[in-house]
Amino acid sequence: MHEASWTRDDAVATLDAPERRASQDPFRLWSRVGLKPGDTVVDVGAGTGFFSFPAASLVGPTGRVYAVDVSEELVELLQERANRGKAENLTPVLSTPAHIPIEDAAADVTLLANVLHGIPPSTVDEAVRLLRPGGRLVNVDWKKVATPEGPPVRHRLSMEEASSALSSHGVSLIDSFDLGPYHYVLVFVRPKPSRLPGHLVSAE
Ligand SMILES: C[S@@+](CC[C@H](N)C(=O)[O-])C[C@H]1O[C@@H](n2cnc3c(N)ncnc32)[C@H](O)[C@@H]1O
Repeated sequence: MHEASWTRDDAVATLDAPERRASQDPFRLWSRVGLKPGDTVVDVGAGTGFFSFPAASLVGPTGRVYAVDVSEELVELLQERANRGKAENLTPVLSTPAHIPIEDAAADVTLLANVLHGIPPSTVDEAVRLLRPGGRLVNVDWKKVATPEGPPVRHRLSMEEASSALSSHGVSLIDSFDLGPYHYVLVFVRPKPSRLPGHLVSAE
């Protein structure tokens, strides 16, 4: 896991490529995840906001999307785009790999899209910390096979590798599906705290 932050020019050229809308349709992702008005979403490693802005339109004025990135340039770009598009429910957030300045359990959904191979475990811990109990962590990633676009295959994580890496952070896999021809999606839940032993009635 070794990805540095992206510059604005690199990000716009790669992440805003028009063909992405067909192969990684963000509305299809959010529809399958069941995002709804009023939800709070944290997009960790938001880049240019490819998944964040569609989320903001779906959660509406009673919801909120935090578009988080370690790149100052990209956080500025996200703010410019939010202002221009009047996305008042989208808040760009500058983070570090070890800390995302958002309160615990604020989110119904946290998203890691095309970032897991490049972020340290501390960022995954932060993505889980931000989830309310019962909230979902969604991981979108490139299939570990040769594709006409995308990062080198050797940098990618297979679905099994991603599932095992994320499960070790205290979330449980509840769903998986394909997003277009090149991506898989894994959906995890942050378990609700189990009942205290004192509340259980002894069978004896
Ligand atoms: C491959 S891009 C993906 C952007 C977006 N998720 C998408 O799919 O369009 C990776 C992004 O993650 C950011 N990034 C890298 N390491 C990060 C970290 N530890 N925490 C948050 N963002 C990070 C980069 O600056 C870059 O914008």
